[in-house]
Formats: sequence, structure tokens, C-alpha cells
Amino acid sequence: MRQELAPEVVAVHFLASMVLVAAVTVLVDVLRRPAARPRMPARWIGWLVVALPVVLGVVLVLGALVTGSGPHAGDERARRFALDPELLSRVHADAVLVFLALLVVVLVALHVTAAPPTQRRAAWWLVAASLAQGAVGYVQYVTALPVPLVAAHVVGAALVTVATTHLVVTVVRARAGRRGRQAARSARPSPASR
Ligand code: HEM
Repeated sequence: MRQELAPEVVAVHFLASMVLVAAVTVLVDVLRRPAARPRMPARWIGWLVVALPVVLGVVLVLGALVTGSGPHAGDERARRFALDPELLSRVHADAVLVFLALLVVVLVALHVTAAPPTQRRAAWWLVAASLAQGAVGYVQYVTALPVPLVAAHVVGAALVTVATTHLVVTVVRARAGRRGRQAARSARPSPASR
């Protein structure tokens, strides 16, 4: 069945690709450092970090809706979402601001609690990727969406997805590592029971 680049099919294809990008990032992270067990951050920092991909998911969905409503949804004859791309772009940018605010809180929390360098580095990479992506998004918005910038914005979305996933893996693995060590300790027979 031909869909003629129906925007919902294109959007689902894009979002599914981002899920694959995130899955590959997890795989590469785990394979590169199978025994990595950095010190665990406080539980509340773990929750803040896990909230990042949730907010990013909202940003990505809104971005796909903007594209599906605007000039780059498909070829010229392709149907568009019956949504206002101008308004959606603003909502998309507002969601990005929420993401950046959350990221700043995570970054400050990791520094204040002297989190391991791997976790702080991962947060800084995400700051860099997000700011660059935000800048490309803003410039393309005010310059009537030139194709090279739109393409760079799609690549940037993938890089932000990689950086977000890497930060989550770095923090979550530390927590999982601690649980594993606790389980191993409690499974060990105590001296009294030997
Ligand atoms: C972390 C920051 C950002 C991320 C991850 C992001 C992500 C995305 C994604 C995934 C798309 C859809 C791509 C596609 O379906 O082909 C998109 C489209 C778009 N974004 Fe962003 N974006 C970010 C920041 C911004 C900002 C700050 C603006 C400024 C208004 C912006 C404006 C736009 C516009 C206008 C489009 C539609 C482009 C088109 O014609 O296809 N983005 N964004």
C-alpha cells in the first residue's frame, strides 16, 4: 500500500530510528566498559537523569510534528498534518527549554555532590550537543528553513539522543552496580554461619 510519504508514517519512522540509536548507544557503552562500576550518585539525581529521556521524547515528537506540518514533510504533493507549524515550533522550542533547565539542574547536582568524572563528562557532552542543536534549530527557524540546516538539525537530534542515552547509562549502571555488590555481599555466608 503506497502512503505517498504520509506525515504520520514519516514521523513514526523517524521516532523508531531514534529508539534504535538509543539502543545501539546502550550496547556500545556496555561493550566498551563491561566492568565499569563508577560511584553511585544520590537517588534523587538518578531520578532527574532518568527524566531527561522522557522530556527529550516530548521534544522529538513535537519536532516530528513541526516537520510533518511544514514544507519538509515529504515531496510537494505529500499531505501535511493539519497543524500550525509556527505555533508548534514555539511549543517545540519551549519543550527544549524545559529539557535544558533539567539538564542544568543535573549538571549542578553532579558537580555539587562531586560525582565521578565519567558522569560529569557525560553531562557536559550533553550540554554541548543540546546547545549546538538548539542554535541550529533557532537559526533554521528564523531563516525560513534552508534544507542544509534542516538536515543538520536531524543529525543533531540523533547526536542529542546519543548523548542523553550515554548520560543515563553512565548513571544507571552505577546504581545497578551498587545493587549488584549489595546482593553479592548478602549472598556471601557470614563468618558465624561457617
Ligand atoms: C535539543 C534541542 C532540539 C532537538 C533535539 C530538536 C529536535 C527536532 C526534531 C527531531 C525535529 C524533526 C526532524 C524530522 O522529523 O525530520 C525538529 C524539527 C524542527 N525543529 Fe527542532 N530540536 C531542537 C531545538 C530546536 C529549537 C531551539 C528550535 C527553534 C525554534 C527548533 C526548531 C525546529 C523547526 C522549525 C523544525 C522543523 C524543521 C523542518 O522543516 O523539518 N528546534 N527538531
